[in-house]
Amino acid sequence: MRRLLELTWRRAFGALLSPAALREVSQRWHNEAHLAGQTSLRDCFFAVAEAGSRKGLAGLGRLLGLVTATRTGRRAVFLNRLYVRPGRQGGGLGERLLSAAWKAFPGVQGMRLEVLKDNGRAIAFYRRHGFRVTGSKAVRLEAGTLRLAVMKARRDRRFVASVKGT
Ligand SMILES: CC(C)(COP(=O)(O)OP(=O)(O)OC[C@H]1O[C@@H](n2cnc3c(N)ncnc32)[C@H](O)[C@@H]1OP(=O)(O)O)[C@@H](O)C(=O)NCCC(=O)NCCS
Repeated sequence: MRRLLELTWRRAFGALLSPAALREVSQRWHNEAHLAGQTSLRDCFFAVAEAGSRKGLAGLGRLLGLVTATRTGRRAVFLNRLYVRPGRQGGGLGERLLSAAWKAFPGVQGMRLEVLKDNGRAIAFYRRHGFRVTGSKAVRLEAGTLRLAVMKARRDRRFVASVKGT
């Protein structure tokens, strides 16, 4: 998982962030202890998408993508991360993982997330799934500042995935 996150970050944000900022983000949020801690939280939904076979997936095993979402209140959830490995993006996995996160919290009405302001493709993806930009936020790193858009969606207004099994 750590490797998948590092690789996806490098590919998606290599042109947007300095190497030092990329390194710092990975050290903070992609380290194994942090990921393991989240997988054991009661209110945290942590799911992966895997390939049916190992063939051709050297380095990352069968892992194709992952999603993490945490309940923040009785009716609200924060989408911590949604990543699909480079080479498999654009094939519907992101949509299925997002749909799985909604399903994991049946009583929840609202979902919030934070995404890099310059990550236009992800913002377009989230808009298509019912999210709207509601604010912004700056996260200070030693190696710079991450400028984030805050986005929110409501269950009743979300795009309902038509993908079988989601
Ligand atoms: C954003 C992301 C999770 C979407 O998952 P996905 O499996 O690629 O998305 P889907 O196949 O369900 O939907 C495709 C749509 O997502 C959008 N998209 C966003 N990033 C994309 C990418 N790198 N490649 C292809 N489509 C992308 C496009 O709008 C695309 O729509 P289009 O087919 O009309 O061009 C995935 O592309 C990804 O991991 N990107 C890099 C990491 C990232 O930005 N994560 C979000 C950080 S909060």
